Amino acid sequence: MCVKFRGSHILSVAQFERDDIQRIFRIADRMEPYAQRRRATRVLEGAILGNMFFEASTRTRISFGSAFNLLGGEVRESVGMDSLSLVKGESLQDTARVLSGFSDVICMRHPLAGSVAEFAAASRVPVLNGGDGSNEHPSQALLDLYTIEKEMAGRGRGIDGLRITMVGDLKYGRTVHSLSKLLRLFERVHVVLVSPPELRMPPPLVDELRASGQRVDESENLEASIAHVDIVYSTRIQEERFPDREQADSYRGRLRLNQAIYTQHCEPNTVIMHPLPRDSRAEANELDRDLDQNPNLAIFRQTDNGLLIRMALFALVLDVVDLVDKYAREVPWHTPNRGV
Ligand code: NCD
Repeated sequence: MCVKFRGSHILSVAQFERDDIQRIFRIADRMEPYAQRRRATRVLEGAILGNMFFEASTRTRISFGSAFNLLGGEVRESVGMDSLSLVKGESLQDTARVLSGFSDVICMRHPLAGSVAEFAAASRVPVLNGGDGSNEHPSQALLDLYTIEKEMAGRGRGIDGLRITMVGDLKYGRTVHSLSKLLRLFERVHVVLVSPPELRMPPPLVDELRASGQRVDESENLEASIAHVDIVYSTRIQEERFPDREQADSYRGRLRLNQAIYTQHCEPNTVIMHPLPRDSRAEANELDRDLDQNPNLAIFRQTDNGLLIRMALFALVLDVVDLVDKYAREVPWHTPNRGV
């Protein structure tokens, strides 16, 4: 039993130590037969997840919901602000008091930084942060780091000594904010930050990364910055966070990666990651589709890993890690081509 997770909110990656990360990852490994539908478990039968997404989402919302379903629980969901009484002036606190009476755990995404913590403070059940404005996205950073661990293991390496380049909108991108905080927990990490000067990683995050002993370089030049790294982590211009959308347009398409650039500049086997969605409009195209045949493109392994990580988080927070297998059975049906 892990007392630290049981009943806890998961609001920021700053609440984790290195041992916690390892614990989450090893539990995620054990979720594979369930995520692959080779086995089914009813361990969360009767439990309800309140999946509250006040901002656009595909992966995070559906994978939190699917992860809960795969553990045998039910999902009740609300999408957008318009359908909720928040538009009638109800406070986040009142909303939290009410919704936590209907759920055993809540996942929440909201456009304002700090709002999920505010909601959690009034909730009677654990709240998992599915992204609060440009602040944090803890489950994404965990699945990213889990993916990094797996990809590096395939190359006979660990996370210590990692060389990673983060590219794009590092100012507003919450995934890179959370990931950079997690990287503080490791040894000898070299982080290269590539963005237009106006979209730099917030200086306090850069300072904290350096203070943890990591080497950090900042650049505006993509080609020079992807030459000697293990991972290139690309991100989307977060247009919804800009005060003025035209300004966002002016940054789109400046830092594009395609197969020709990869072949010319990257070491063989450099892993390409992106939290998704990648902006595939012609004027942006930050990660060209011609990379889709590149075996080092890990973006869909990231999304598959997200299911495992979110299952692990639910199992920990609801304290059923050691009961998952006890409530398991074989599945009688078969899904072809599930190459997870
Ligand atoms: C990211 C997000 O919402 O922060 N997506 C995700 O959750 N996988 C990144 C983005 O929207 O660009």
